[in-house]
Amino acid sequence: MTSPAAAPSPATVLVFLDPAFEDGRLADASKPQLMATDQGATRGDGVFESLLAVGGHPRKLQAHLNRLAGSARLLELDIPAEEPWRRAITTAIREYRSQHVPGSVADDELVVKLLVTRGVEGSAMPTCWVQASAPGPAGRRQRETGVDVILLDRGYDSEVGERAPWLLLGAKTLSYAVNMAALRYAHAQGADDVIFTSADGRVLEGPTSTVLLAHLETVDDGAGGVRTIRRLITPQLDSGILPGTSQGALFTAAKAAGWELGYGPLEPHDLYDADAVWLISSIRLLAPVNHIDGKEIGTPELRRQLTAELNALYATIQ
Ligand SMILES: Cc1ncc(COP(=O)(O)O)c(C=O)c1O
Repeated sequence: MTSPAAAPSPATVLVFLDPAFEDGRLADASKPQLMATDQGATRGDGVFESLLAVGGHPRKLQAHLNRLAGSARLLELDIPAEEPWRRAITTAIREYRSQHVPGSVADDELVVKLLVTRGVEGSAMPTCWVQASAPGPAGRRQRETGVDVILLDRGYDSEVGERAPWLLLGAKTLSYAVNMAALRYAHAQGADDVIFTSADGRVLEGPTSTVLLAHLETVDDGAGGVRTIRRLITPQLDSGILPGTSQGALFTAAKAAGWELGYGPLEPHDLYDADAVWLISSIRLLAPVNHIDGKEIGTPELRRQLTAELNALYATIQ
């Protein structure tokens, strides 16, 4: 006899977008809610977003709604407008917080996922819902401890996104099996995470994150002293990667704080030569990279200082 699948945590909240329910339809996460013929389940055909709510406030909500709409456009999915999403998100957060009282303000984080599938086979109606649940402990830990990373070849060159748009490389699709397989491969090698490279040797992204690096350069200030130029660099967006909402928001905050900004192309030696490298994403936020393929990046002190500085900037993001 097969054992029943583990029930999701009772704190997981589901709210389906349903025209009959203005604020979304609450559903029981411990009961089946999808048709077995839903094309999200049978084909991984759909799109999603993951965002962090802190103190009940969803961060960078507009950027996530924009990217959801962009992903849906790439998949030719006709999804509901922003307002029903916003109302369902509010319902999900309110319901979650009514069931789960955080131990502390610092602990008051929750993951909000927006999910869209192409709907049940034979129907033209996407299935859309919002899920609110507790963040896993690993992401929070890795913000503090950092991560060891390996480089893995994604097998595509950096121009394939332009040449083969049907690969949907710039969309956040539900088809994350490859990304999860890359993470399992890394874990089996004793690493925490992955940076994908292209077949033509460019740095791309992590399976669930954007790559960011910092370069510090000391220059003559023209008045007999020196000043430090601080540069934040990320791979160029047209290399077949997902545009990161966290990287985008951090770049805006960093620019206002005097950082120079740059976009690739980047190669692995740029990572090894950096003063710090991070994997950045909406839920884990900034995870400093300690080692890549066993080589240390920067120094522990530099990583700590720069991470603290960027965390302070990130904390100003709404
Ligand atoms: C492939 C990929 N790249 C980048 C990111 C980072 O995006 P964001 O900062 O919007 O979370 C993610 C997030 O899940 C991702 O899956």
